[in-house]
Amino acid sequence: MPGLVIVGAQWGDEGKGKVTDLLAESADAVVRFQGGNNAGHTIVRDGEEFKFHLIPSGILYPEKTCVIGNGVVLDPGILLGEIDGLRRRGIDVGNLRISANAHLIMPYHVLLDTAGETKLGKLSIGTTRRGIGPCYADKALRLGIRVQDLLDEKILRTKIRAALEPKQQALRELSVQRRKLRKEAGEEADKASAEQAIGGAPDPRLDLHAMTEAHVSYGHRLEPHIADTSRLCCEVLDEGRTVIFEGAQATLLDLDHGTYPFVTSSNPIAGAACVGAGVGPTDIDEVWGVAKAYATRVGAGPFPTELEDEVGRHMLERGHEYGTTTGRERRCGWIDLVALRYAVRLNRMNALAVTKLDVLSGIERLRVAVRYRSKEGAVLDRFPYHQSILHSAQPEYEELPGFDVDVTGCRSLADLPLDFIADFVDVPIRLVGVGPGRDQVVRID
Ligand code: IMP
Repeated sequence: MPGLVIVGAQWGDEGKGKVTDLLAESADAVVRFQGGNNAGHTIVRDGEEFKFHLIPSGILYPEKTCVIGNGVVLDPGILLGEIDGLRRRGIDVGNLRISANAHLIMPYHVLLDTAGETKLGKLSIGTTRRGIGPCYADKALRLGIRVQDLLDEKILRTKIRAALEPKQQALRELSVQRRKLRKEAGEEADKASAEQAIGGAPDPRLDLHAMTEAHVSYGHRLEPHIADTSRLCCEVLDEGRTVIFEGAQATLLDLDHGTYPFVTSSNPIAGAACVGAGVGPTDIDEVWGVAKAYATRVGAGPFPTELEDEVGRHMLERGHEYGTTTGRERRCGWIDLVALRYAVRLNRMNALAVTKLDVLSGIERLRVAVRYRSKEGAVLDRFPYHQSILHSAQPEYEELPGFDVDVTGCRSLADLPLDFIADFVDVPIRLVGVGPGRDQVVRID
């Protein structure tokens, strides 16, 4: 399996980090190909918990090369914080490589993300407010700043200047609009900040010189890690060694194929691994999807199987369903096999890893959604392409017997209620997670 892609099959937080960490044992390089520090994954190793946002999950193996690919958007301050945190815990990061072509999340991207969400009010997407959307927008507008720009102060300053001006203008306008709305709503506007917004007093976070200086110093620290990572991946593959392409977020958050506009701003599906890492489609040999035994979603957007009852509460609490990045409570519900089959098709998956099965223990009757019913009463066997239909679709369920045994020590598939899922989506389940630890998995060959 020289080229193996691992993707999320639902709305994220499926446990891709844990699966990547396990499969990385027999790989030589692990590459992140999209997203940024909106992602968060937790790996438990020998009872020790590690949380990552940007660094690929293979970093706990000192001999593996870990790559942040060109498709990632990278907040350099956050990355350096992660590197420092790992070093303090004695983890060697000498094998971390960062694409010179990856785009940087700048302070104005973070401000614009928050300002945009605030402006949308009730219609907000519920982003992680890490600047992801504005950064990818700048990349498409060709106003982006790349990792390689950190290495040349003159170019860096020129590019920041060009990018900054329209941002200052946009932020000023958003701020004025917000204040007007507050005033209309009869709220007492904060006088000092209102004057600052209207008078255009400079925001210290948007100072060109301070920003340039800070980024030059990030560049000095990151320089030993910066590389042509596309070449590096191709070389590993050409030698017949294995590269894992580690997706962040998940299929239903895909900018093109997810539940738009309630999606992230990149393509977390397997097809994007090639673009985001700089390899070709013929380099991909296997695609694994990761799905929880139930479903969760953070932020707004359709979620047909969502539960707002005791069972949903059980999933939230037993599954510790709080965001690694933002700490937000995740919405919980039954596994949705209509959506999962859609994810299997979009990614052309060869295998599935099902995680957190232990969380369902103790629930008397388990449910899996097998079709939807539209509000006009039509049966929908496929994931509808029209958002309005999905928004009002009602799931119909198949019931499976629950289990009340402690599966956390389980190491074989017997008695685990998974055959139905594998048959329905027509993909073999190759790994089952039955607890947070590295050894709490059932491998099925
Ligand atoms: P953004 O990626 O921060 O722009 O957020 C867009 C949407 O994707 C929001 O609904 C977020 O909650 C969701 N999202 C982004 N990253 C993750 C993740 O790693 N796990 C789950 N949801 C995510």
